[in-house]
Amino acid sequence: MLRGKRVLLIVAGGIAAFKSLELVRRLRGRGAMVRAVLTEAGAEFVTPLSLQALTEDKVYRDLFSLTDESEMGHIQLSRDADLLVVVPATANLLAKMRAGIADDLASTVLLATDKPVLVAPAMNVRMWQHPATVENIQVLRQRGVLLVGPTEGDMACGEFGPGRMSEPEEIVAAIEQALGAGGPLSGRRALVTSGPTWEPIDPVRYIANRSSGKQGHAIAVALARLGASTTLVTGPTRLADPAGVHTVHIESAREMLEACSAALPADVAVCAAAVADWRTAQQAGQKIKKGGNAGPPTLELAENPDILASLAAAGAKRPGLVIGFAAETETVVSHATEKRRRKGCDWIVANDVSPGSGTFGGDDNTVHLVSEAGSEDWPRMGKDAVASRLADRIATFFTA
Ligand code: CTP
Repeated sequence: MLRGKRVLLIVAGGIAAFKSLELVRRLRGRGAMVRAVLTEAGAEFVTPLSLQALTEDKVYRDLFSLTDESEMGHIQLSRDADLLVVVPATANLLAKMRAGIADDLASTVLLATDKPVLVAPAMNVRMWQHPATVENIQVLRQRGVLLVGPTEGDMACGEFGPGRMSEPEEIVAAIEQALGAGGPLSGRRALVTSGPTWEPIDPVRYIANRSSGKQGHAIAVALARLGASTTLVTGPTRLADPAGVHTVHIESAREMLEACSAALPADVAVCAAAVADWRTAQQAGQKIKKGGNAGPPTLELAENPDILASLAAAGAKRPGLVIGFAAETETVVSHATEKRRRKGCDWIVANDVSPGSGTFGGDDNTVHLVSEAGSEDWPRMGKDAVASRLADRIATFFTA
């Protein structure tokens, strides 16, 4: 919910600008107050009248208009907002933001603001991949500008690739996360692992598992939504990087451990990744050829580091709350209780992955929360619901 939150929407000139109308409708439906700034190019795609009708407010357009500036100066526009959102963030506007150019109302507000800024880029794939844009995005990210999208798909220009603006629904989710700053976990740092790991055999082959990453990603989103500054360390998945979450991509278990250690200190760590227990003892430097008399190769395996156990034993750097997952097919709670003790973590979220449960790769989960106090059975629910409930429990742990 966004009740009482004030969003200053900057609508710039790109074909995706039409989505800003749907965005305003959704934001207002969630209780947000929306005020719009429309650039000159933006007005080529969206009429001021439609924005005005949907925001039920005046639409701000001119830097030097006597009425705009006397009723509501550019400083006041930013002061009256909790968050600035740029849709679509064109290559041109991103370049201006990076360089600090203020030559119209939108760019001046963006230069004058001390509020968080979320941008939803949209442009042709080659513009998105141009080194100038890549560099601009890098610098803006470092300055704390939040990004949602772009996604990959067919574009209005007839090409395919990354550069398409996120859908209004995803932008709303990113706005909710960005505004989680006042939530119960604000000021806390969270670390979440997600997805499978890939253990290389040779330069082209690897050992992997079927983890989708859905549960881990959903937990990172839920924690960020409650205001935690969240790092997600993820193996390869088909999921997009969640908005408002710092996402680190790794492949192997050893890389995951390294990325997790670099993310410490953290107040809470949630290990939801399906880390491969073993890697190949030696990785071939060249592709293993099937020809010759040697026949199929024998793979010698070595044990991978246990990331959950390492975090739980990190001494002074140990997060105050360390949570693991257990995937069990039988005697779920007693196995999870034993795993909690063995790994030295505080809570175990035990999943029932018995055949027919549909948990692995599916959207639902049957969960038992095992802690020192005993075990709690949660009803079967969606992975997003499990994530929100777990995030709420984590918030209670820190606020109680
Ligand atoms: N885990 C980890 N690093 C590993 C293996 C597992 O961080 N190398 C974490 C998982 O992210 C999960 C928990 O440990 O939170 C449970 O892992 P699991 O593989 O189920 O436990 P095991 O100890 O391997 O026991 P078993 O496979 O025999 O059930």
